[in-house]
Amino acid sequence: MTSADPTAIFKDSWSLYDLITEYNYMSHQEIYAGVDQLLRSRNSLENACLLDLGCGNARYLAPCLKRSSPALYQGVDLSEDALVEARAYLTGLPGQVILTHANLLDAIESTDKVWDVIFTSFTIHHLTLDAKKRFFQAVGNCLSQDGWLILVDVVRDEGQSRESYLDGYLNFMREGWTRVPHDQLEEACTHVHDWDYPEPLSSLQEMAISSGLKSCRLISRYAQHHTLLFSRSPAEGV
Ligand SMILES: C[S@@+](CC[C@H](N)C(=O)[O-])C[C@H]1O[C@@H](n2cnc3c(N)ncnc32)[C@H](O)[C@@H]1O
Repeated sequence: MTSADPTAIFKDSWSLYDLITEYNYMSHQEIYAGVDQLLRSRNSLENACLLDLGCGNARYLAPCLKRSSPALYQGVDLSEDALVEARAYLTGLPGQVILTHANLLDAIESTDKVWDVIFTSFTIHHLTLDAKKRFFQAVGNCLSQDGWLILVDVVRDEGQSRESYLDGYLNFMREGWTRVPHDQLEEACTHVHDWDYPEPLSSLQEMAISSGLKSCRLISRYAQHHTLLFSRSPAEGV
């Protein structure tokens, strides 16, 4: 069976993704502990504008934002169910909160704001290579001079084919995600098989450099799940 589009699973079965993250099968706990530290280390976040592309229900970012609150948070997602939940998770943030039901590429290509932090987690791998290039170009156009792109996503090994990546990832899911009911696990596997197009790190870096970003730092890696910090300032790099 083939799933209809890359976001169908998030529109129709948001709760399945929530269950997977509840069991921490994609290392959300560790990843977001790193994101929390990163946001705490940024000066003047209270004056900053933060854009979250593919925000889902913002369940894991919301606690970080409550500790390090930006002046403006905008979350963008195509799943209305997820956005309804996001509204609840983000309740109590002191700054302005905007939640937008839109395609992330349309949102970032048409934004008239300058963003200090652009955050995107487990979403960009759904884009085609051309769309990923457009995404990085758009980031380059709307990121502030000392801006950050925090990118959390699955990444292929250098030289690894998509087929080999998928073999490994589907195996990782079927062997490790034992508490997800069988039918739902197979639904998740079909989604990954049909719609996951992760890039190797070198390809992400090339697209970032072509878009005017100067440095890339690996913040964490748990299996294929990477957290990368891209910034305009060369000083941020390692
Ligand atoms: C795997 S979830 C990640 C949610 C959250 N960022 C996290 O880290 O847990 C991917 C999210 O991206 C959204 N998404 C995928 N493609 C999108 C697109 N082109 N535009 C907007 N949202 C998209 C899905 O609806 C889903 O909520």
